Amino acid sequence: MKIFLDTADLNEIRRAASANLIDGVTTNPSLLAKVAGDGDPKDLFLEICDSVDGPVSAEVVALTADEMVEEGRRLAGLHPNIVVKVPLTEDGLQACRRLRDHQIPVNVTLCFSTAQAVLAAKAGATYISPFVGRLDDAGHEGMDVVAEIRTAYDRYDMETQILAASLRHPRHVLEAVLIGVDCATLPPKVLHQLVKHPLTDAGLDAFLADWKASGQEL
Ligand code: G3P
Repeated sequence: MKIFLDTADLNEIRRAASANLIDGVTTNPSLLAKVAGDGDPKDLFLEICDSVDGPVSAEVVALTADEMVEEGRRLAGLHPNIVVKVPLTEDGLQACRRLRDHQIPVNVTLCFSTAQAVLAAKAGATYISPFVGRLDDAGHEGMDVVAEIRTAYDRYDMETQILAASLRHPRHVLEAVLIGVDCATLPPKVLHQLVKHPLTDAGLDAFLADWKASGQEL
């Protein structure tokens, strides 16, 4: 299973990549807007691609299929690791098929139902991004949709990879793992939470205290 970092924050990306904790990065316009400032977003995408050895999702902001394809082709031209992210709309699905015809990998985002995920797979999506946390926020059981998508894709041998997104806490990640998603994208805070365990910290403190008390040296 691949773990992506869901951020455009270069410090967080470099930190996680140097610890070999991530296989790629996902971004969206909101995440980009947080860090882009006055700089050119294309430069930021290039820096992200230079910081991690794996796919980097870059989302289009156009609304029509023609414009999404044009924007997507420009984004894909920036670096071989760019995956073009398109929204799960009728135009987005059309753009997905056309971008795939150009051998450009596509992440179909803002997926909230199994039916939508099946349509994205039929449009040739490389990744489908169901938004678990936002479904939970709306009073649904977001992870049930992820499990249904897994069942549907397996039943029809659909190759689109399930990229669980909008994961808000470690429990979400564990549930996604047990369902058998192909990838999960985590905000930096959740990645840090995954690594840490209070018993690890307590155990390490005890080991080091015992070692210090022994007066020995390695
Ligand atoms: O990957 C999608 C993600 O960025 C959305 O997360 O927490 O804004 O619902 P959230």
